[in-house]
Amino acid sequence: MTETPFADAVAAYLRDVPTPMTTPGHKRNPALVGEGSLLLSDIPHHGGADTLRNDHQVLERAEALAAAAWGADMCRFSHNGSTHPNQALCLATTRPGEPVLVHRTCHKSVYSGLILAGARPVWLSPDVSDELGIPLGTPAGRVAAALDAEPGIRTAILTEPSYVGVLSDLPAIAETCHARGVTLVCDHAWAAHFGFASSVPRNALALGADAIALSTHKTLMSLTPGALLLARDTGRIDLERLGAAFDMLLTTSPSAMIYSTIDQTRAWMQAEGERLIGAAVELYARAREGVETIEGLRVIGDDAVLGHPSVLARDPLKLVVDLAGAHADGIAVDRSLRARGVQVEGADRRVLIPHITVGDDASRVDAFVPILRAAVDEHRGSVGDPPPVATSWRTNPEQAMTPREAAFAPTERVAAADAVGRVAAEFAVPYPPGIPALAPGEVIGAELWERLRTEAAHGARISYATDSSLGSFKVVAD
Ligand SMILES: Cc1ncc(COP(=O)(O)O)c(C=O)c1O
Repeated sequence: MTETPFADAVAAYLRDVPTPMTTPGHKRNPALVGEGSLLLSDIPHHGGADTLRNDHQVLERAEALAAAAWGADMCRFSHNGSTHPNQALCLATTRPGEPVLVHRTCHKSVYSGLILAGARPVWLSPDVSDELGIPLGTPAGRVAAALDAEPGIRTAILTEPSYVGVLSDLPAIAETCHARGVTLVCDHAWAAHFGFASSVPRNALALGADAIALSTHKTLMSLTPGALLLARDTGRIDLERLGAAFDMLLTTSPSAMIYSTIDQTRAWMQAEGERLIGAAVELYARAREGVETIEGLRVIGDDAVLGHPSVLARDPLKLVVDLAGAHADGIAVDRSLRARGVQVEGADRRVLIPHITVGDDASRVDAFVPILRAAVDEHRGSVGDPPPVATSWRTNPEQAMTPREAAFAPTERVAAADAVGRVAAEFAVPYPPGIPALAPGEVIGAELWERLRTEAAHGARISYATDSSLGSFKVVAD
């Protein structure tokens, strides 16, 4: 195991400082919080893992080790998920009013970054397969065309890999961007394990991106919501500005426990990544085999995806299960799974994503398959035609104003029947995957609105809309 300066500092503090005359208010006092309480290991970064004056630079040392492990020149630990570095990247690589090329299928955190930054998104869409019910990659030629059509763009922000684990040809996209002086930023939230084993793709920095955000809590072992901001010193990003943007969005009371587990995760991956990830890839194969014994279920794996010209690679741990052949509604199946003690990561009406990670073992995978069979059987045949591709993957709305202009505009609430043609003043985000189907500044189209309302009626969780049933919606006032 390589060194873990931050985790070691936490252990030393817990051992050596029994008299904390500082925050947190619970003081790790067992008489107050109870023996065995999680709070007994809750300490802050400053006045905890390090002194108030940051004398030991323990975070800086841990971040330098992580930067080296991911092949970056700069690393910052975040305990607000990939959301935090995504927002910092928007703030640091764009300017108010400036055009920025962004995947329309980006996560809500990028949209909120655009609201903070005031940039004007120029949307880019991946290819989408109706046959598979999922998005594929984004061709480099489409990136080139978009950049050539709008020469003021200085930054491209892509979600790679996507929520369904598909990675576009990043080296070609990076070359396309860099040849035009454009910075390539990737939301790499789902790929913290990339680069640590020969069985997974290299990470997006190694494939050419200038900066990335990733969630160590999603696919690796840190506490929720540990994450990293990573950047290379390519001359295309002002790393000081990026650090300042990151700090602007950071609490002044970071939790040492989250940082500590990010530090340990990096060391585990360096020491054991090949073995742990290799074993998880074998579990994927075991799970796939089991799932495909269930009548009507199809796993969308390498065979379905890799031949597509827009696709470079696929996350070999991403288990994407298409329920179309069983005519079972994914949201109903998800509910039945939960009632049987199984929680999956993703479910839309057609596709389920049971998350497989280095934390799994054969017994969990073996227990899951018969439960999935029972849950699918409960709903088999309950939907006629296979449900279409989820709305999140295929939206191309007209942009009436920037997300920031809409976020600060006077608003009014209208009934669902009056929403079409108005400009959205709030988000409607089917979750998962957390991609806004509608975002502030976009004209509400009739077909999109109908599809979204249908999804809501079928039980999809529509997050961030103040009326989640979509019986009414907040729009920019006339
Ligand atoms: C593509 C993508 N980016 C960013 C995020 C935000 O990550 P976090 O929840 O770690 O803040 C998510 C969350 O699901 C995501 O799917």
